[in-house]
Amino acid sequence: MKLKTILLTVGVVSTLTSSIQATEIGEVLFDAKCASCHIKTRPSDFSTLVAPPIMGVMRHVKMQYKTREDAVKFIAEYTLNPQRDKAVCMPQKIKRFGLMPSQKENVSMAELVTIGGWMYDNFPSANLQGNQQGKKCNKYNTCKTKKQKPKKVQSSSQFLISSGMPHMTKIVKQNWDNTVLNLSETQKKKLLVVRGATMQSVMHITPQIKKLEKKITIMAMQGESPQKLNPMVDQLSQLKAEATKVHIRCIYDTNNILTKKQMEFLSK
Ligand code: HEC
Repeated sequence: MKLKTILLTVGVVSTLTSSIQATEIGEVLFDAKCASCHIKTRPSDFSTLVAPPIMGVMRHVKMQYKTREDAVKFIAEYTLNPQRDKAVCMPQKIKRFGLMPSQKENVSMAELVTIGGWMYDNFPSANLQGNQQGKKCNKYNTCKTKKQKPKKVQSSSQFLISSGMPHMTKIVKQNWDNTVLNLSETQKKKLLVVRGATMQSVMHITPQIKKLEKKITIMAMQGESPQKLNPMVDQLSQLKAEATKVHIRCIYDTNNILTKKQMEFLSK
């Protein structure tokens, strides 16, 4: 579910601001200076990328440079002075995105050493390197298979009905230019409005749900009494009901915009 990715990102950002440890300075710098172009997670929508995601970059860097020191040196030098013949990524990457603009004005050599070290230590995650089965995946969700994710307690859905109800706005988006579905311009305009409204509500409610779930879980594990926790649970169920209603509204609105045939096509 796409929402999960959004949540993960929100989660990462919020843990970041709350606890900036020394080892994370590299990440803070990366976020400030590189993340506008290089995303840290596995992309869900390749069409919106403006540069290769960093897991891909690091895979190629590590194939070319075997030690941490050499890899960091390369990253730092390339970032200050990108050159076609020095690039380690595939030529079609440069063809697609263009050569990286020099970041000389934005970042110092010292900062790049920190950033490069952090990139080296965190990307790509174990199973992308291919041979380190069982090593824990990192928090950037760059793992290929679910199996190898660390065994954490799975957080539940933000909806009351956790399976079966289709995520219409996502399905529609995936089929946006599908010639069989054949959305008209008017339909597209209306669907965008529905998508906007849905995403806005969900983005508003979901963080509250996650926060409350986390709080209840922690308090419960610390031995807090049911009397104290139950009202929080009631509040949680109210928020989840709200999210579920947004979900239902989205299905209803989409249903009204699409023809019966189009709906049938999407529910296949
Ligand atoms: C304005 C967008 C932009 C920003 C900001 C940016 N990059 Fe890039 N970067 C690119 C593009 C586009 C490519 C792919 C083309 C290329 O390799 O030159 C790339 C490629 C790379 C590569 C791979 C080079 C190779 O061998 O192919 C590295 C390493 C890299 N960037 C590091 C960084 C670091 C570190 C920062 C932050 C200090 C950064 N980039 C900021 C756009 C950007």
